[in-house]
Amino acid sequence: MFVLGGPGSGKGTQCIKIAEKFGFVHLSSGDLLRTEVNRGSKLGKEVGAAMASGSLVPQALVLAILKQAIKKSGAKKFLVDGYPRTLDQAKEFEGSVCPARQVLFFDVDEETLKSRLLKRGESSGRADDNAESIANRLSVFNEESLPVLNFYSKVGNLQKIDGRCNVDTVFAETARYFEPPCDPSAVVEIEVTEPNSVLELDVTIHSTK
Ligand code: AP5
Repeated sequence: MFVLGGPGSGKGTQCIKIAEKFGFVHLSSGDLLRTEVNRGSKLGKEVGAAMASGSLVPQALVLAILKQAIKKSGAKKFLVDGYPRTLDQAKEFEGSVCPARQVLFFDVDEETLKSRLLKRGESSGRADDNAESIANRLSVFNEESLPVLNFYSKVGNLQKIDGRCNVDTVFAETARYFEPPCDPSAVVEIEVTEPNSVLELDVTIHSTK
């Protein structure tokens, strides 16, 4: 599953919660790249400056790093957070790894994104959480990533989630896409004939898990 949204839309925050509750492996392209930068690896040195400015790093590097993490995990269910950011990235991944089952998009207005990132920048130590880099990240998102969302919207597997509410409200909305559909045979209708009566129920729930 791809998880997309503007910078600061809550992709990482929600992925951590989804992974914990629904048993996915969370792979954030940004986190994987930052690990390389912090390690001072050859790849990290190549991409550090682009990341600090808020520009995209070369597609081949991001895909290689994601494939490596997928292979290393040995898992089958992934939340791919922050990828694809261009139509080419989408095509490359789907052609060489597998098609995305669903695409989640956290929709948040620019003012909210800016204020979240500037607030985080007070303590995050992230090289790209400053006004200039945030402006660049937003314009890269609008120019390069919105076409990806339009593409998946046409394909029909884009789930747009209002990401402006608080974390728990956004998660409640997000979780709906992961929970199994309700079994209609398990729904019990109760008719109350006396409006002010107290209804006592003796219920036993047999879990199927
Ligand atoms: P990346 O790390 O992916 O950065 P980003 O997309 O700009 O997004 P963030 O991680 O900053 O935000 P988020 O949406 O995950 O929100 P979060 O949960 O953290 O990428 C960094 C760089 O790496 C890119 O600029 C690029 O250079 C490179 N890169 C990465 N992927 C690439 C790719 N595919 N191709 C090429 N280059 C790539 O939340 C943000 C803040 O808001 C936090 O403080 C959080 O506590 C808060 N918050 C979250 N949700 C809420 C809420 N509902 N209400 C209030 N506050 C909230």
